[in-house]
Amino acid sequence: MATLPFSLEGRVALVTGGAQGLGQAIAAGLAQAGAHVIVAARNAERVHAAVAALAADGGRAEPLVLDVTDAAAVDAAFAHIDATHGRLDILVNNAGARNRSNMAHLNAADLREMLETNLVAPYALCRHAAQLMRRGRYGRIVNVSSIAGQVARANDVLYPATKGGLDALTRAMAADLGRDGVTVNAVAPGYFATEPNQPMVDDAGVAEWLRQRTALGRWGQPEEIAGAVVFLASGAASYVTGHVLAVDGGYLAHF
Ligand SMILES: NC(=O)c1ccc[n+]([C@@H]2O[C@H](COP(=O)([O-])OP(=O)(O)OC[C@H]3O[C@@H](n4cnc5c(N)ncnc54)[C@H](OP(=O)(O)O)[C@@H]3O)[C@@H](O)[C@H]2O)c1
Repeated sequence: MATLPFSLEGRVALVTGGAQGLGQAIAAGLAQAGAHVIVAARNAERVHAAVAALAADGGRAEPLVLDVTDAAAVDAAFAHIDATHGRLDILVNNAGARNRSNMAHLNAADLREMLETNLVAPYALCRHAAQLMRRGRYGRIVNVSSIAGQVARANDVLYPATKGGLDALTRAMAADLGRDGVTVNAVAPGYFATEPNQPMVDDAGVAEWLRQRTALGRWGQPEEIAGAVVFLASGAASYVTGHVLAVDGGYLAHF
């Protein structure tokens, strides 16, 4: 079991949306720190490719094809994790959905749909994870929120509500699970160069705006999220819970 503060040796971690983007970088960071990483997402081909990439880098990983909004599939996935490992030490709720538009185009059904992925599923997974974590009186939950949980822009009316809810849920679950030895924190990424953002990454106007708008003056690269998550998942963060850690190049700190 872990001896160095940032070591995750001997830990079992589940990363949702771990097959690409921020989730893939988080999975790589956890594996590099010594964890056995269960990589979950819907697209089987991508999940297997991500696991193969981790293994090629010397990491321990396994695939889990899972839609986090499918309650029966989530039940089965946790039964499988329990049967295979008998434990889960780290859960990273990273899978997320975003439908960017304004109030004229997004209705209440759109809000319900986004909430299913961004809030209901993380809660369901946390409940399952907590059951396994309570047994060992040890657990680390990290929810991937967004700076949009704290600030908003026009033409993106629902996503901030789902992430603000996730921030509040993080605090509430931290309060609920603390006495079981389980910490619950979130990271709030700023602007990262991942696939859904590619059109903006290719836009020189956005690069210039970020140059002025963020303290570090640039896009974040996916691997730059990993250190914060490894920290929150490790023994080094043993007295940190209910916290939302911005990983945003100083977006929230700077204007
Ligand atoms: N990139 C940014 O700048 C940024 C900023 C702030 C917050 N975030 C948050 O960071 C997280 C990752 O973002 P990203 O940019 O890396 O996104 P991404 O490249 O679109 O990756 C999302 C991952 O989630 C999986 N996923 C989506 N819905 C799922 C579901 N229902 N069940 C299981 N897996 C699901 C996707 O795989 P499948 O389609 O195969 O399922 C994919 O692996 C999200 O929560 C996002 O809101 C990102």
